[in-house]
Amino acid sequence: MPKLTIAIDGPAGSGKSSVARRVATMLGYLYLDSGAMYRALALKALGRGVPLDDESHLAALARETRIELRAPTPEHEAAGAKNCVFLDAKDVTKEIRTAEVARAASQLATVAKVREVLVAEQQRAGAGGGIVMEGRDIGTVVFPLAELKIFLDASPEVRAERRWKEHREKGDNLTLAEVLEEVKERDKRDRERKVSPLVRAADAVLVDNTAMGIEETARLIVMLAREREREMAEVRDA
Ligand code: CDP
Ligand code: CDP
Repeated sequence: MPKLTIAIDGPAGSGKSSVARRVATMLGYLYLDSGAMYRALALKALGRGVPLDDESHLAALARETRIELRAPTPEHEAAGAKNCVFLDAKDVTKEIRTAEVARAASQLATVAKVREVLVAEQQRAGAGGGIVMEGRDIGTVVFPLAELKIFLDASPEVRAERRWKEHREKGDNLTLAEVLEEVKERDKRDRERKVSPLVRAADAVLVDNTAMGIEETARLIVMLAREREREMAEVRDA
């Protein structure tokens, strides 16, 4: 069967990482979490005290930074990680999953020159197909020709509650109201920014998983993928 490029986009906590990883496992595809790249760069900027609106400094930082995503170690996986993230060869898997880093990531993600660097890396990583990539602009900018595009959504309250549970399990003392506020603020910035805003691609399938589990959602997407694989094989063999 031909191997597809699958783009999954959607707001914070919609289930992109969990669902994309499961879909990739079921199809034997690679999985790439583009948000982890923005988070890793944000962690570096915070650590160095680079202002999150200093465009030229952030662009230079992006160019000199090496971010690597690998399959999670059993230890990280047990803690809920969908991948291991290395920033300049240092394991930052845990450090990038804080609300502070999420906010910083969404701020530096508004900088066009930062996006150029990360998008080019994402395109290189996915060039061979057989990949499930998730983020905000995968179906619109990174892989506009992806054979299957999903826009994954869920109600803001359910998304915030999912995130809040994760924070609680890690021992972070954020209230549900604080997490809801953070998620709403980040969604607004992601949807309203000038460069590559979060928007459903015209040809993306809208999947609302407010009332669906990860497995059920992944199976639905795998079904759509199998259909696309068959269609492509038919065209190829015609
Ligand atoms: O990547 P994204 O921010 O879109 O979401 P995620 O990190 O995959 O999911 C956020 C949390 O929601 C995780 O703890 C998932 O286990 C959970 N989740 C869920 O309970 N039901 C779903 N249908 C999807 C995700
Ligand atoms: O896991 P969650 O959905 O909360 O966020 P994420 O996917 O880890 O992304 C963190 C932030 O990076 C987002 O709020 C976006 O501002 C930015 N991002 C982006 O601009 N484009 C992407 N393709 C992925 C993430």
